[in-house]
Amino acid sequence: MSKQTAPLPKGFRGDMANGFNPQDAAHLESEDLAHVARRQRLLGPAYRLFYKSPVQISRAKGVFLYDRDGNEYLDAYNNVVSLGHSHPRVVAAISKQMETLCTHTRYMQEPLLDFAEALIGTFGGELGRNGCAMFTCTGSEANDLALRIARFHTGKTGVIVTSEAYHGNSGAVAAISPSLGKKSALDPYLRTVAAPDSYRVPAAEIGRRMAEDVVRQIADLQRHGGGLAAFIADSVFSSDGLYTEPTDVLAPVAEVVRKAGGLFIADEVQSGFGRTGTHLWGHARHRVDPDIVTMGKPMGNGYPVAGLVLRPELVSEFGASMRYFNTFGGNSVAIAAAQAVLDTIREEGLMQNAVKVGGQILDGLRDLQAKYEFVGDVRGAGLYFAVELVKDRESKTPDMDRALAAVNALREQRILISATGADAHILKIRPPLVFTPDHAARLLEGVDAALRAVHV
Ligand SMILES: Cc1ncc(COP(=O)(O)O)c(C=O)c1O
Repeated sequence: MSKQTAPLPKGFRGDMANGFNPQDAAHLESEDLAHVARRQRLLGPAYRLFYKSPVQISRAKGVFLYDRDGNEYLDAYNNVVSLGHSHPRVVAAISKQMETLCTHTRYMQEPLLDFAEALIGTFGGELGRNGCAMFTCTGSEANDLALRIARFHTGKTGVIVTSEAYHGNSGAVAAISPSLGKKSALDPYLRTVAAPDSYRVPAAEIGRRMAEDVVRQIADLQRHGGGLAAFIADSVFSSDGLYTEPTDVLAPVAEVVRKAGGLFIADEVQSGFGRTGTHLWGHARHRVDPDIVTMGKPMGNGYPVAGLVLRPELVSEFGASMRYFNTFGGNSVAIAAAQAVLDTIREEGLMQNAVKVGGQILDGLRDLQAKYEFVGDVRGAGLYFAVELVKDRESKTPDMDRALAAVNALREQRILISATGADAHILKIRPPLVFTPDHAARLLEGVDAALRAVHV
């Protein structure tokens, strides 16, 4: 019996920044071609591969990935394995715990409470003093639960996000994730505001403008009967294009949200666990005290562990009315991994490293901005950078084709980055926190060569 491959619509372009298009595969080696065809057949078309020539990885260590032929790739993209691939301390913690016990939160386990206490202790304000922690397996589940709790607490349904936000893949959070594209249905009580585009709006006006925009959307939600349950934002606005400065944007927003009776949710899935260098949490750069913080990705350095920290009265009402159980969320191994990650960030001085090596990369990228006219803007904090490519500096028109060509030129040099923003014209560089000055120099040389190659 012949096996069918799920068909793709004509003109399909991968519909994601830097997505591989299986219809443009003729240039691949026969082994990769066969893999792509098999993958299409077995997994169907919803999955996306990266790069014009996808990379087949067999193993990884530290900041390097290795393909089946043993070629080394510099990983300047993965924030999940934020301590570096296969970090020995996390590997040991996971293995030892798996050997000893792996069970769920319905049994008394001291390490679960030790970790909750340590995690809560990393926050300022009310969360740090009295916060509660809840555990999930993914960032999507954390945001889903945060949304449920916010709606339960406020009795309202409305949610405000930034215009190109991504908050995850469950039904409820996909419905508040406009970056999934026009065909992904949004919640009728979702409203969007522009991200704080520091390249196009004067820094001094951004916070005020965003707060005014939020006020308008709150009024609209009230007019339509939904009211405001929550404003939720990624503290560095990654999928909008990465806006790390100015940092006086979220405090005025939190103020108007609270005035309207809504909750301020900080999504730290991208910006948490030291990514921005100076602060463990991205919202702390903005000096806001969120009502709920959600987190995930780097929390287990590859092991699926995520969760939220929230004001106690929010969970006491919710918890008194219904139970919360997540079979794998907060399991013994997840907690061992998360504890090892938190300890390693501190003990290896990884935030300090992110500040030091991040500064070197930011300076280097700014030198490249001076060299190439089509580099309109360079932004970043800690070890997270955006390089915005434009057709010309006056119009600031996004140049997606050049950005994707640069990402693929880097991939050909075996340096892995990706692209972001509504127009996929912004190079997104996000190396593990263990990047050294030598890795940074290699990355900068590679970016220079890639920009030279697309400088036509
Ligand atoms: C800001 C943000 N929130 C939530 C999520 C969802 O996390 P997960 O893929 O673990 O469900 C992501 C994932 O990319 C994210 O970037």
